[in-house]
Amino acid sequence: MRSLLVSLVSLALALSVLAEPTLSPYTLHEKRDAIPAGWSRDRKYHATASVPLRFALAQNNIDSIGDLLLDISHPESENYGKHWTAAQVAAKFAPSATSVDAVRTWLEQSGVEPHRITITPSKGWIEVSSTVEEAESLLQTDYHVYGHESGAEQIACEGYHLPAHVAPHVDFVTPTVHFDAKIKRVKRDGHHAAIPIGQPGFGAGPKTSGVLDNIFTQLEDCDKQITPACLRALYGIVYDPVSTNNSYGIVEYTPQAYIQSDLDSFAKNFSTGLEGVSPKLVSIDGGVDQTSLKNFSYNGESNLDLQYGMTLVTAKQPVTLYQVGDMNLGASFNNFLDALDGSYCAFEGGDDPSQDGIYPDNVPGGYDHSQDCGTVKPANVISTSYGYNEADLTAKYAQRQCAEYAKLGMMGVTVLYSSGDYGVAGNGDLCLDSNGNQTADGKIFNPSFPSTCPYVTSVGATQVSPGQTVLDRENACQQVIYSGGGFSNYFAVPDYQKAVVAGYLENHPPPYSKTTYNTTGTSRAYPDISANGANYVVAINGNYSLVYGTSASSPVVGAIITLINDARIAMGKSPVGFINPTIYSSEFQYAWNDVTNGTNPGCGTVGFSSAPGWDPVTGLGTPNFPALLAKWLDL
Ligand SMILES: *[C@@H]1O[C@H](CO)[C@@H](O)[C@H](O)[C@H]1NC(C)=O
Ligand SMILES: *[C@@H]1O[C@H](CO)[C@@H](O)[C@H](O)[C@H]1NC(C)=O
Ligand SMILES: *[C@@H]1O[C@H](CO)[C@@H](O)[C@H](O)[C@H]1NC(C)=O
Ligand SMILES: *[C@@H]1O[C@H](CO)[C@@H](O)[C@H](O)[C@H]1NC(C)=O
Ligand SMILES: *[C@@H]1O[C@H](CO)[C@@H](O)[C@H](O)[C@H]1NC(C)=O
Ligand SMILES: *[C@@H]1O[C@H](CO)[C@@H](O)[C@H](O)[C@H]1NC(C)=O
Ligand SMILES: *[C@@H]1O[C@H](CO)[C@@H](O)[C@H](O)[C@H]1NC(C)=O
Repeated sequence: MRSLLVSLVSLALALSVLAEPTLSPYTLHEKRDAIPAGWSRDRKYHATASVPLRFALAQNNIDSIGDLLLDISHPESENYGKHWTAAQVAAKFAPSATSVDAVRTWLEQSGVEPHRITITPSKGWIEVSSTVEEAESLLQTDYHVYGHESGAEQIACEGYHLPAHVAPHVDFVTPTVHFDAKIKRVKRDGHHAAIPIGQPGFGAGPKTSGVLDNIFTQLEDCDKQITPACLRALYGIVYDPVSTNNSYGIVEYTPQAYIQSDLDSFAKNFSTGLEGVSPKLVSIDGGVDQTSLKNFSYNGESNLDLQYGMTLVTAKQPVTLYQVGDMNLGASFNNFLDALDGSYCAFEGGDDPSQDGIYPDNVPGGYDHSQDCGTVKPANVISTSYGYNEADLTAKYAQRQCAEYAKLGMMGVTVLYSSGDYGVAGNGDLCLDSNGNQTADGKIFNPSFPSTCPYVTSVGATQVSPGQTVLDRENACQQVIYSGGGFSNYFAVPDYQKAVVAGYLENHPPPYSKTTYNTTGTSRAYPDISANGANYVVAINGNYSLVYGTSASSPVVGAIITLINDARIAMGKSPVGFINPTIYSSEFQYAWNDVTNGTNPGCGTVGFSSAPGWDPVTGLGTPNFPALLAKWLDL
């Protein structure tokens, strides 16, 4: 009752101080066509309950980030390789005072007292302590409590509005249409672990066909078991690192964890000098290499990534492990990006609670320190084998995160993501229905994010087909997993990719209509490149398992780019940074082993077909290390 009175009073005050109406008409800002799988709308929320409203301010100059990035990444640009410092990037894109003022003035004119408005030090966000009814009025929306089948609840709406003059200054507002609350996992063995929906770290990841009786290292057996020797033979990886100043980072999300004894047994069999060696742990938001929960789901991804990543760059090149999130909350890609870029951090001690791990996490055993915010220096190459479906996120949330990958590119970082393991379908083999819902029987292709962000390099999967050897051309991966690929529903086709995408659609027209995927050639297509993703021999929990996934492909490509950076740094050149404009250029397009056979099934179809040149199954092909090295040393 009291807060109702307060807001009536403040409304009256607001009306009285309004000399003339400066409020423009409202426009729809964000809307969901369908609520995400697993959620249902349960009930209205109390009008007087408090809601911390957060406005993500539009970043200044952000529309030009693609051009700025191209200027330092295009092989023919005279500024190639002239990367920016973190401070230059932060200054260029910080929200302008105009944006801060536009939002603050509107809020104050709408009756929000100045003491309830907080602006973060980075000026990235404005926070308002509000109530449901005030938020409904500010955003012209209707809040409800939504329940998840796991029992979790969150407050959300299905669309909201902003005054037309405010809208250009705001990327998005939370909590609104972004469904990604932390889902509490059942309490087990005294552990109280919570895993956000869609958050990588548990459950997704590579697949296994079981443990092996014995491991072969003969090159004739690479159709049955992939070992580091097979990859060296396939891609011509013969190189001894010399630089003491290079870096390669692999990202893992807790509760995923590696097991040192598994790294050691892998090293004993496959890697000189790595026995007893651990990756350099960089803990983000309480990230720990947990050892209390162990099985393939908890250790498969980390063991795979590190065993292959570390072995291929050899003992001479240390690998950094970014371990993100504590055991209770876990973390999202935004937690990782916050740690790399202080200007991206939401506000003191927090982030977007409907999406991201919020630290400090004050439950017993939680990470009770402030979140990491600009505390971590990015490595020259960062490989991540986790992903969302684009449809898990709203377009604006995905776009804001995507711009952050562009900023890493500005700083000279190569950002690699695996393209997903379900062909044209999304994680969990879900496809879209005509309402935009993700379901098992949907017929519409379901692209993967961040792979559809034009500022990351997306890596698909190939295989040595049964009966073939490393001397044969690889095919698209069709054992246990299918290479993720397709066309974005959120991002436009980048210039670097336009010609090859148009060529593919014209010369190899897929037999699907525009209701199945964006057929226009005007949307971002993925993957960009690929590498083997079938039959990996990985030490896991004391045994060797056979492992499959684009999860394997990404760290292998990461290792190859790291070796190329080593050679460039040794010559006094910069790391390669954002590679897409280079790899699609006429000089580099043919420095890949073209993959022309196989498809990526999903959604009740055979998927797209590989073809000569780029295709939405294996991209430009797999790396030809000697050819790429020679070309990159010339730049
Ligand atoms: C989306 O799917 C859910 C089940 O996951 C269902 O309850 C809901 O009605 C569907 N929404 C639409 C718009 O079809
Ligand atoms: C290390 O490499 C970076 C480029 O990645 C360069 O800016 C820096 O000066 C180098 N430091 C040393 C000690 O060579
Ligand atoms: C792997 O290592 C174990 C233990 O050292 C050894 O017994 C086995 O022969 C090795 N296998 C191969 C194929 O190198
Ligand atoms: C690992 O354990 C978790 C929790 O008990 C279980 O949900 C999961 O299916 C297990 N994974 C494997 C591959 O056994
Ligand atoms: C094409 O791929 C299929 C499936 O992997 C394989 O059986 C076939 O031999 C491949 N064809 C060629 C020409 O390599
Ligand atoms: C295809 O993607 C482009 C670029 O994102 C977009 O402008 C266009 O509306 C999309 N077409 C359809 C039919 O969705
Ligand atoms: C290793 O594999 C053997 C044989 O399948 C099995 O008995 C054993 O339990 C496995 N060990 C672990 C740690 O999974």
